[in-house]
Amino acid sequence: MNLPKPPKSHWESLRPRHAVESLTPLIESTYSSPDITFYLNGIKVVLSNPNPHWTLLDFIRSQHGLKGTKLGCGEGGCGACTVVLQTRSWREDRTSKITHLAINACLFPLVGADGKHVITIEGIGNVANPHPLQERIAKLHGSQCGFCTPGIVMSLYALIRNSYDTVTQTFHLSSRDIEQEGHLDGNLCRCTGYKPILQAAKTFVTEDLKAQLSDDIRTKIEKLDKITTVAEALETREVDSRPLDTSVTPLATAWRAGEMGESLQKMSEIYSHTELDVLLPSDDGNRSNGSCGRPGGCCKDTPSDSGVTPCSKSPAESPAAMLCSVLGEDHTPAKVKIKKESDTNSTISISANVPPVKSREDAMKNQSQPHPQKGIPQVQFAEYAPGSELIFPPTLWKYRPKPLCFGNERKLWFRPTTLDQLVKLKSAYPSAKLVGGASEVQVEVRFKNSDFAVSVYVSDIEELKQTDLHQIKLGWAQELQLAANTPLTEVERICKAVYAKMDNKPMVLEALRKQLRYFGGRQIRNVASLAGNIATASPISDVNPLLVAAGASIVVRSQSKSEMQIPIKQLFIAYRTTNLPADAVITHIRIPLSAPAPRTREFVKAYKQAKRKDDDIAIVNAGFRVLLDDGMEVMDVRVVYGGMGPTTIQAERTRNVLIGKQWLNSETLKLALEALSKDFDLSFSVPGGMAHYRRTLALSLFFRFWHEVTHELVPTRIDPTITEEIHRDISSGSRDDYNPNEQRVVGKQIPHLSALKQCTGEAEYVDDMPRQDQELIGGLVLSSKAHAKLLNIDWTPALNMPGVVGYIDKHSIPKEANIWGSVLKDEPFFADNEVHFYGQVIGMVYAETALQAQAAARAVKVDYEELPAILTIDKAIKAKSFFKHGKNLKKGAAIDFGMEKAFADCDRVFEGRTRIGGQEHFYLETNASLVIPHVEDGSMEVWSSTQNCMETQEFVSQVTGVPRNRINARVKRMGGAFGGKESRSVPFACLLAIAAKKERRPMRLMLNRDEDMMLTGQRHPVQARWKVGVSKDGKLLALDADLYDNAGFSQDMSGAVMDRCITHIDNCYEIPNVHLRGHVCKTNIHSNTAYRGFGAPQAMYFTETIMSNIAEGLKIDIDELRLKNLYKPGNWTPFFQRIDEDWHIPTLLDQLRVSSDYDSRKANVARFNVNNKWKKRGICLIPTKFGLSFATALHLNQAGAYVKMYADGSVLLHHGGTEMGQGLYTKMCQVAAQELGIPLDAIYTPESQTYQIANASPTAASSGSDLNGMAVKKACKILAERLKPYREKYGPDAPMSTIAHAAYLDRVNLAANGFWQMPKIGYKWGDTDLETAKPMYYYFTQGAAVSEVELDVLTGDHTVLRTDIMMDVGQSINPAIDYGQIEGAFVQGQGLFTMEESLWTNKGELATRGPGTYKIPGFSDIPQVFNVSMLRNDGEGKPLTWKHLRSIQSSKGIGEPPLFLGATVFFALREAVKAAREMNMVKMPLVLDSPATAERLRLAVGDPLVNMAKVVKKEGEKNFFVSVA
Ligand SMILES: Cc1cc2nc3c(=O)[nH]c(=O)nc-3n(C[C@H](O)[C@H](O)[C@H](O)COP(=O)(O)OP(=O)(O)OC[C@H]3O[C@@H](n4cnc5c(N)ncnc54)[C@H](O)[C@@H]3O)c2cc1C
Ligand code: FES
Ligand code: FES
Repeated sequence: MNLPKPPKSHWESLRPRHAVESLTPLIESTYSSPDITFYLNGIKVVLSNPNPHWTLLDFIRSQHGLKGTKLGCGEGGCGACTVVLQTRSWREDRTSKITHLAINACLFPLVGADGKHVITIEGIGNVANPHPLQERIAKLHGSQCGFCTPGIVMSLYALIRNSYDTVTQTFHLSSRDIEQEGHLDGNLCRCTGYKPILQAAKTFVTEDLKAQLSDDIRTKIEKLDKITTVAEALETREVDSRPLDTSVTPLATAWRAGEMGESLQKMSEIYSHTELDVLLPSDDGNRSNGSCGRPGGCCKDTPSDSGVTPCSKSPAESPAAMLCSVLGEDHTPAKVKIKKESDTNSTISISANVPPVKSREDAMKNQSQPHPQKGIPQVQFAEYAPGSELIFPPTLWKYRPKPLCFGNERKLWFRPTTLDQLVKLKSAYPSAKLVGGASEVQVEVRFKNSDFAVSVYVSDIEELKQTDLHQIKLGWAQELQLAANTPLTEVERICKAVYAKMDNKPMVLEALRKQLRYFGGRQIRNVASLAGNIATASPISDVNPLLVAAGASIVVRSQSKSEMQIPIKQLFIAYRTTNLPADAVITHIRIPLSAPAPRTREFVKAYKQAKRKDDDIAIVNAGFRVLLDDGMEVMDVRVVYGGMGPTTIQAERTRNVLIGKQWLNSETLKLALEALSKDFDLSFSVPGGMAHYRRTLALSLFFRFWHEVTHELVPTRIDPTITEEIHRDISSGSRDDYNPNEQRVVGKQIPHLSALKQCTGEAEYVDDMPRQDQELIGGLVLSSKAHAKLLNIDWTPALNMPGVVGYIDKHSIPKEANIWGSVLKDEPFFADNEVHFYGQVIGMVYAETALQAQAAARAVKVDYEELPAILTIDKAIKAKSFFKHGKNLKKGAAIDFGMEKAFADCDRVFEGRTRIGGQEHFYLETNASLVIPHVEDGSMEVWSSTQNCMETQEFVSQVTGVPRNRINARVKRMGGAFGGKESRSVPFACLLAIAAKKERRPMRLMLNRDEDMMLTGQRHPVQARWKVGVSKDGKLLALDADLYDNAGFSQDMSGAVMDRCITHIDNCYEIPNVHLRGHVCKTNIHSNTAYRGFGAPQAMYFTETIMSNIAEGLKIDIDELRLKNLYKPGNWTPFFQRIDEDWHIPTLLDQLRVSSDYDSRKANVARFNVNNKWKKRGICLIPTKFGLSFATALHLNQAGAYVKMYADGSVLLHHGGTEMGQGLYTKMCQVAAQELGIPLDAIYTPESQTYQIANASPTAASSGSDLNGMAVKKACKILAERLKPYREKYGPDAPMSTIAHAAYLDRVNLAANGFWQMPKIGYKWGDTDLETAKPMYYYFTQGAAVSEVELDVLTGDHTVLRTDIMMDVGQSINPAIDYGQIEGAFVQGQGLFTMEESLWTNKGELATRGPGTYKIPGFSDIPQVFNVSMLRNDGEGKPLTWKHLRSIQSSKGIGEPPLFLGATVFFALREAVKAAREMNMVKMPLVLDSPATAERLRLAVGDPLVNMAKVVKKEGEKNFFVSVA
């Protein structure tokens, strides 16, 4: 191998050169090849000595045309980068089969691709010829912004490919496979609420068609036929081959070089191999729909998994049932048809003669179809033919791995192929970093800046990855010896299979399987290993407590000590440190399985509690083993925990206490719990925080273990609800798909116009745009202090680094240009003398590549003098640290300062302090921008992922000194925004513009996830200090409140957020006397900003907390209280807006109450709670109203549109709105098509840009459709008027091409502008005069929801059993899009109120800055039954028309309003907690702040375990984390 010459620059460390020197003999003797050879979407790729810093994702995204695989987080937590590895895997009997593994390309080392087939989203279909998965997700509305979609498609692709058995040619996929086996737990979507994705996936659910394949079909599949087909396929790929790097050898080249002959020859082997596809005893042994996977079995388990589930309501019956399985009479599902198509992807078909697998829908289509009915959408899909998929490349069957080595003087990669080679390598260079699945190592590289000089990929070493199961005989084996780097998915399978083989006896295997089921996401489990986990020695490892409890050991090999065995319990010596010899390699993990001695019983169990059930690291986990004699006396016991200290810890005191005790005696339990609380006497400031919760969990998990064991010994003695963990069924739900107001185009359920492109990965986001000539990439220099003076900044080390071109900071622009702000200019682009929050931008380095720029940015040296920092609202109030705001609302007695008397007149007065935390937007696409300067005239194209083209243009103009008419701010689409890109996107475009102007070169930047979370602000944390007065029967009389939002270091839109906050605290209730004061706190955290709801959800959460307090204080039913206080038409809000005829809340509540069967379910919940001690349920029904308009920012309530018709009748539509997944472009095209009387596909909106629409308001405040829709309508009306004579002349059926052409020939202007300003509104703060006060909002979008939850009292875990939402959206322009908004907003709200928690360190650093630490809802968090409907009729059952609205098509804005309804989950949980507290006789009023995390819920229950685990705060102790509300 030719290694590059050592670099000359002085910064290069010498250490790697030592590596090269010490390893040269080995390289020369063994590692002769520097080439990685693999297939990419069917094309052979040979990379010679590639960049050693690249992950697989870096390589894929560097290739032209392969931008569908996204970078969402870079830490394996979001799934946006999912690709599929098609590999040949070996079974223990040495037979092989082809498997499809979904993996995270962002973590996967490039070297790991060697010898495999990498399939990316582009490999499976495109818009012209989509894969059925892509088509169905698009057509069933499973893609909104689309940034998550390719990753989700690829996870499902792996699942459906693995569902096809090539030997029997049967396809078997059940709803359980889709939802409960964790195939989607590594993918996140922030837009859709997951429901439509699951529905699309379930259209593949099939019966096992084994019996349907006749023998003659089988015999038709002749070897020769297959070979010919493959040859054709490969030929076609040659034509299709896209340009790759010059270092890449396309298959075509290999083909010409004669490999094809080999391929053909090998094809026969393919089929002989597949015929050898012999499996262990079915791993389906314990499958059943709805099983929670509890070791020892779940109440829902059935003997076989046929895909038809007795417990599940939804999946089995039909697609219509899937779409609408819980239908009331009013609910009408969409009709789904499978199109019979012979044109499946034949270019890659290996077996055109294998019949397509019929799905349940396919069977349906033969049934008589009703005639299409107006108002009910019709959906058609192509059939899925598993036999027509991309094949395993023939030459790979022959592939034999060779030792590889590549790299340069800074970093070397090795890939040995035998254990001996590895041991020698380790001996020659002990600090060489072994890399298995890289799920720890790559995170260290990316986020902890670890730079390993030598990395060694071990997952291709047969001895390390292949577990030999021949040791396992029927009956008892002594132990299970797992190869150290066996992927966890495989370990899961082995555990299941061996457990079944050994008559379900070795409990340790079931316990391990259970831990692995909830270990990371599927993509992680497909590559990560036990060895990697053990060697990392993480104190929260999910497997180490169990392995220690089970007495497992590892086998290690090294050159110096050859082979030895180390018990795992002796391994962990300090935080993430083991006593493994430096040159040692873990080769096996030995897990004892031996049968307990006669007349003894052994129990082994494992538990885990995390913030989120799926894909989350543990807060506390545990492995327990107890050995009992025949008198139930404890002979031996191991009680081992993770999350209770710096290492995996065995509770020694508890062990000593238990040994010799009688297990079945409850005194034994009591003694053990007491000992446990001594074993884990955590301090209040324990690293990682949550001291009280951790201790409570330690006790609770043991408590559950004791009861589980006791239950298994004496089933009748124990209440089974103690031992059951939260159970989740297969989800189902409905949308009322019938729209009586459907018109020709408007009102139809048209899929998002980009949905298919998004599903195929062809939709382009900013970072997908082709690299520009001479382009450079920015890397940000960020403050590492929360508040400090900047003493010195030394950027010279950065400038000396490879690829770096320059650096800019505050000196690069005039002082007066270095300031910006959305409402008030109070924020510097570059820190000026001081930094005000951790992460503030100090400067920017730019370089040839992103990796170089980021490394260089880290090399800039900054000296600080620290200053005191304020992080929390409490501290800001104490220090009087506020921005000027001063808005308040007075109504009734407050106007004349009579609130004291108003309260004196009340029967009861309640007071409280309530807090709600912020929320990270977690749009899947982080902020990105690309600036292209035009040297000729100083103009610039500014591509940005922004909701706000105008502000981007304004500030780029400011920093460059170029007038706005030369700045074209453009955005095609965003990968989600939710308010987070309304203002906070602006500075990044400006920084790039400064550099672009300086260098005269294009500049690009895409923030890393952690940067994005640190820098760009979140939803405001808010605190309310409130006082409410009521009559004794619960009539609201007076409300006085101070509301404080945590703005962060600058104002951004915090004042406006507070405005909306105080104008929504009434929610839907009439309060005669109100005094509300808003305060905007200035602190040293990032600048908080707009987020879907804009302060309203926080306010309504306060209202409902106040209502709960009143109901509890007065002991009256909360539903009665709500109804009693609802607004009536003619009432006035605290901002003097009259409640008018558009008031539908009472009707919504009435209708939802009936359709959700609320009253009887509420009674059932009460019964359930009486009968269940350890599970509690809660249910609630809450209304919401949300004001539409930009409120008092009157100037923003305007919009423009520009419609151009070409002579062929096609239309180019521009408007000021931006597309972030919410379907605005689709709706605007529908409006235009309706107005112009042309088909939808005659209209095209390419992007939003300031060159087309001047002064466009940000797309925000749920008013995108209202404002832009009206502008579009006006422009179309002008155009239609001009075309009217031609329409009359040529008749109503004449095509637009004829009309447009005729008008063109007559010199008619075929371009028209539309402009609209929202009428009626114009409230002025302080106006309390009913006569003069203008409305603040144009109208109110209204809705209500019912949620029912179940809480695990022992852990704080919960599940949402069912949610029903009904919204008044007026006459929907596109119900499919509106349903998507409702479901997505609800799930986002659910996240806000239950699991999303931002935490800071005491130093002011945001600690939760990635999907690993910040949890948004995943697939398994959505309501198990999720029904959504729209209000159609009034209280008397007459159809509503909303003609009074004067909005576009009488529709209502819907983006934000449903988000608050996620709070129904919070308040239902509050009810469940209340029930538990009543049982525990806790008398104190319940204070439950938002989010209702598992920690808060568990501690609020107030049982003896919580009290026993109490952690007393000692003098001077601080919580490890700070929450800033
Ligand atoms: C998104 C995400 C989710 C995760 N979720 C969980 C979770 O739920 N529970 C949990 O416990 N962990 C979790 N982890 C952590 C990680 O996945 C596990 O620790 C995993 O088991 C590591 O295995 P690996 O093969 O990927 O290790 P690698 O990252 O490849 O290596 C980790 C360490 O092990 C060493 N090593 C690897 N193989 C050997 C060997 N044969 N001999 C000696 N040393 C070796 C490496 O040198 C390195 O120091 C998660 C990680 C990510 C990124
Ligand atoms: S980008 Fe790879 S998992 Fe998020
Ligand atoms: S569609 Fe899933 S993140 Fe936007």
